[in-house]
Amino acid sequence: MNIAFIGCGKLGMPCAEELAKAGHKVTGYDVAKVKSNFVEIMPTIETTVKDAQIVFVAVPTPHDSAYDGRAPTAHLDPKDFNYNIVKDVLIEANACMYPSQMLVLISTVLPGTVRRELEPLVTCTSSLLTKSLIN
Ligand SMILES: NC(=O)c1ccc[n+]([C@@H]2O[C@H](COP(=O)([O-])OP(=O)(O)OC[C@H]3O[C@@H](n4cnc5c(N)ncnc54)[C@H](O)[C@@H]3O)[C@@H](O)[C@H]2O)c1
Repeated sequence: MNIAFIGCGKLGMPCAEELAKAGHKVTGYDVAKVKSNFVEIMPTIETTVKDAQIVFVAVPTPHDSAYDGRAPTAHLDPKDFNYNIVKDVLIEANACMYPSQMLVLISTVLPGTVRRELEPLVTCTSSLLTKSLIN
């Protein structure tokens, strides 16, 4: 298959490389300079997703610094992750994808986020799956 990754960091790159080693043609895009012997790194989201049957999104969803595990948080109000990067990427990918292509979000999001905030941004493809399918 032709597979694309947007976000080639600690999660995205190893997944992309394993799929490439398994024989799939894998393209990748990242705002940082990344290198791979297995994944073809592309200059834009548009060129990365072109011809891909599946597009994985593995960009950061940062948490507030008070929730980084250094100190207990039980006394703090619950605070959601920041989804701005995911939203920007979904909007850009949506603009250059077709209904036959599957978009798969593997960034971490809290339950309910996809239905509430992310799925409405994806109008061109029929699928926005997450690693937790009930999100
Ligand atoms: N690392 C893990 O083991 C792991 C496991 C499960 C879930 N996750 C989730 O996956 C997501 C990514 O985590 P990570 O550990 O790979 O983070 P990371 O910071 O290592 O990688 C994210 C990559 O996305 C790139 N990026 C940032 N903005 C971008 C943009 N606009 N377009 C394209 N690329 C962009 C960054 O340059 C970076 O290379 C997070 O939501 C995280 O919670 C990570």
